[in-house]
Amino acid sequence: MKILVVYYSMYGHVFQLARAVEEGAKSVAGAEVLLRRVAEFDEVVKKTADDEYIVKVRQQQQDIPVCTLDDLRQADGVIFGTPTRYGNMTAQMKQLIDSTASLWLKGEMEGKPAGVFTSTGSTHGGQETTLLTMMVPLIHLGMLIVGVPYSTEGMLHTEARGGTPYGATTIAGARGELQPTKEDLAIAGVLGARVYEFNPSICCQARRRSRQLTLVSLDAYTSWPTGEPLMLDELRKRLAAEFMQRTADGTLAQAATRLLAPGEIHHDWRFAAGWDSFLKAVAEAHRMSPERRIEIKHLLSDGDFVLGHVHVVQRPGDPGAVGFFLLRFEGERIAEMWAAGQAVQADSPNIHGAF
Ligand SMILES: Cc1cc2nc3c(=O)[nH]c(=O)nc-3n(C[C@H](O)[C@H](O)[C@H](O)COP(=O)(O)O)c2cc1C
Repeated sequence: MKILVVYYSMYGHVFQLARAVEEGAKSVAGAEVLLRRVAEFDEVVKKTADDEYIVKVRQQQQDIPVCTLDDLRQADGVIFGTPTRYGNMTAQMKQLIDSTASLWLKGEMEGKPAGVFTSTGSTHGGQETTLLTMMVPLIHLGMLIVGVPYSTEGMLHTEARGGTPYGATTIAGARGELQPTKEDLAIAGVLGARVYEFNPSICCQARRRSRQLTLVSLDAYTSWPTGEPLMLDELRKRLAAEFMQRTADGTLAQAATRLLAPGEIHHDWRFAAGWDSFLKAVAEAHRMSPERRIEIKHLLSDGDFVLGHVHVVQRPGDPGAVGFFLLRFEGERIAEMWAAGQAVQADSPNIHGAF
């Protein structure tokens, strides 16, 4: 699992926290941790060119690569750090987050754990508000927020230092004269380890995957069941393939309890509502055409829906019909079905054929 620690720091306090977060994540066996900084604005570089301290802190960070969208895409979990600016994240960090539209569109950050950390000048200068407002866009991206529990050593304190349940913090002082305490750094390390150790449920991973339309050939299903665990969308595609095969060969009733949810919604207007009438129609169609077979050309899954593009033949040599099944799943059973078909014409003027 790959953890990305991405931060912005002008005077070095958040940089120190970022290093502690990185160490904390690395302390967990198996963690691959990347440290990335947010790019500085050109105008800030120009305006601060005469400030010896800021220039020195910037030089200390020059070997750390600037964060890219690919870094975010490839990470399995991300921890974001920024100083406060009037109780919010810095514009530099916001610019990075605002550039993630392409990731949001594809749901590429969904289900990934995220943590946040910050530094304020004064004790009540916006520790919690900065962390909480940083979480908002991360929730829009579908990330799962990880905080720091009170069972962590040093969390129940009243002295003027950092450490909040929303994320790691430090207090820099009005002129940046303070340094992160050992407790601040330890809590930052705990945050890093927790984001690494957080294990999104199989359901979240399946949801993340199922937002990306997948197109597969039937070959992928011929060896099922293989006994290996399946992501939910893969399992549903296999169940949909079985449903379509059994509908064609007249054996659907034998697997009805396993495949069909009790909701009984189908949209085949030739038969009365309810799975019972549909099952009778399937059996009758088999009696009339016992050689009827179906070939699944494509299966696509998106969220709770699986779409099948099929070729149905009544007997060998029959040009058959092209059909579409749209199936809506509830859990692992089919709760709703739409079906449509069109006979294949042997002498079509269309050179592309039906499939
Ligand atoms: C424009 C600006 C706004 C700031 N707003 C706040 C604020 O609202 N509350 C606060 O406590 N500190 C505020 N600060 C102080 C910074 O948070 C402080 O410099 C920072 O925590 C140091 O982190 P760094 O060393 O990683 O840059 C502000 C600083 C700047 C430049």
